[in-house]
Amino acid sequence: MNESASSRLAAILTGGEAPADLYSVEGSRLYERFAEFDDSEQRELLRRLTATKGDILELACGGGRLALPFLALGRPVVGIDLSEEMIRILQDRYDRLPRSRRRVPLTAVVGDMRDFDLGRLFGAIVLATTSVFLLDISDRQQLFAAVRRHLAPGGMFFVTVYESSLEAGSTSTRLVPLAGEVPAVALLSDQVREDGRTREVTALQISRDGDGVLDVATFSSVVHTASKEEIDEELELAGFTRSESIALTGADAGGLRIRGYSL
Ligand SMILES: C[S@@+](CC[C@H](N)C(=O)[O-])C[C@H]1O[C@@H](n2cnc3c(N)ncnc32)[C@H](O)[C@@H]1O
Repeated sequence: MNESASSRLAAILTGGEAPADLYSVEGSRLYERFAEFDDSEQRELLRRLTATKGDILELACGGGRLALPFLALGRPVVGIDLSEEMIRILQDRYDRLPRSRRRVPLTAVVGDMRDFDLGRLFGAIVLATTSVFLLDISDRQQLFAAVRRHLAPGGMFFVTVYESSLEAGSTSTRLVPLAGEVPAVALLSDQVREDGRTREVTALQISRDGDGVLDVATFSSVVHTASKEEIDEELELAGFTRSESIALTGADAGGLRIRGYSL
């Protein structure tokens, strides 16, 4: 049996309702409610990006958890995401920034990181939050070819990967309070399936509605796994050379590593 405890809990609480996609409109909104105050990777990426030149592209940028802080570098930022709702949230957050911060342009684009053509080159391309594993190996090949076409000479591609391989069957669960007027929490769970090659991510949003009735919404996403060495090999085959490997430190590190590659 390979059903995670949290998907069973979701089924019990919702009466068996099928989970929605984590990056659907409602899922994107929930993701942004728990990601908004998460500053992991930010410090390390900002430090690395200062050593690069030119415009910055963030792939799978979501609602701008990282893309908005990148504006502090004073260089134009472009964010691409497949979810229209994520891009709407990012644009809205940018539009609400003080005028002084909006002097640096941010372009928010709905697009697929496997196949995009922005018609320009970037000094740095970032794919953070382990989002490289949203794609399987053949989609990653397409992604790396698209990155290659968009990287300026001397540019750097930063990818966040796991420090160590994930064990089949291992689970991690977090309970996160959600901002907003109605008290709400998200239960986030991540289970590596028995095949060891895919992970099931489940997010339960739990609150009470205005009539005091329990309100549970469930979202899920299937994510692929690969070791950092496999990602190195795939990028090498795509023509990249690894030039940096930065372990994240501190409470928010979460066993992650940022790899930097050049052409
Ligand atoms: C884990 S979230 C990361 C968001 C953001 N980087 C952050 O740190 O908060 C993954 C994001 O990838 C986006 N996504 C999924 N598949 C994608 C694809 N093929 N191309 C572009 N974005 C994609 C989702 O819509 C979602 O916003």
